[in-house]
Amino acid sequence: MTSGRVSSGKLAEIGKDIAKAKKLLEEGLLVGIPTETVYGLAGNALRADAVTRIFDTKNRPHFDPLIVHVAPHRPLDNLVARLPAQARQLADALWPGPLTLLLEKTPVIPSLVTSGLDAVAIRCPDHPLAQQLLAELDFPLAAPSANPFGYVSPTTAQHVEDQLGKSIPYILDGGPCKVGIESTIVGFDNGGHPVIHRLGGISLEKIEQIAGHARLQINHSSNPSAPGQLQSHYAPRKKLLLGDLDVLIAAHAEESVALLTFRNHYAAVAMDHQIMLSPTGNLEEAAQRLFDALRKLDQMPVDLILAEEVPQTGLGRAINDRLHRAASN
Ligand code: TXA
Ligand code: MG
Repeated sequence: MTSGRVSSGKLAEIGKDIAKAKKLLEEGLLVGIPTETVYGLAGNALRADAVTRIFDTKNRPHFDPLIVHVAPHRPLDNLVARLPAQARQLADALWPGPLTLLLEKTPVIPSLVTSGLDAVAIRCPDHPLAQQLLAELDFPLAAPSANPFGYVSPTTAQHVEDQLGKSIPYILDGGPCKVGIESTIVGFDNGGHPVIHRLGGISLEKIEQIAGHARLQINHSSNPSAPGQLQSHYAPRKKLLLGDLDVLIAAHAEESVALLTFRNHYAAVAMDHQIMLSPTGNLEEAAQRLFDALRKLDQMPVDLILAEEVPQTGLGRAINDRLHRAASN
């Protein structure tokens, strides 16, 4: 499955060659890069042609802005006009890591990157290969998740190859992502207080411990003029229903189903049609496995995927958010 618009017919090379990735990025081309959350589709954030190529390759609408990735300890002065005190505290405590901050941008950032918004999304990834690459570049990297728009994010180099392999020249292989869901996105209100725009790899509890009470402003819009997250996103192609699994299994007894379960097996369904996220009930492990599980379920010879929520605490909130979006297609 590829976005045909920029297909070369050849499959991307997968490797660990930082110099090769650097050279391609310096030419304005795109590279699949590993991060601790999910793989990104990276291009030079300061070059409009590279940024346009990102939107085209993903078939991503231009109203959905991109995250800019920076190397650790690099000053943000040229990219960001102001850093609220709470933003500094969060960055000091959680970067490198799965936290994205929305900060007032300088004119250096092309408005294409932010879809015309005044704030730019910035994060410093916690992955050795991504950091090494960023340290060798003299520009930051715009990188959305490396999947066609709306589909499940990739957590291995092979996932990127499967979907975008014909559209990009190179994928830097950093192994399976250890967090497995996207970064938490935090903006700031006029008083400098944190506002969470997307639940992700850093829990709400952690944000509040560092920066005080955080308001949730999660976008569930299906209105394409609203930037940010659409309600149907992170979605497999098969229909996914979310709820009490005993009830769902009984209600769909006549259909062929596969299950996404948190920590239990269900005797009514064949074992090879069930994926358990964490036998010990560990939410970090469940997050790490979630997107790979959705891809595998999507490929099973069944009509329907049935899934259950996980506990609504810690990373469980972000997992449940993704499950609800996966169920909205
Ligand atoms: O973990 C992650 O954040 C991954 C890795 C590759 O870093 N990236 C990622 O990017 O998830 P993407 O493009 O799939 O999701 C970025 C989200 C979108 O929902 C977008 O609307 C929001 O960030 N976003 C980006 N810039 C924004 C801005 N200036 N204001 C509000 N939301 C913004
Ligand atoms: Mg994405």
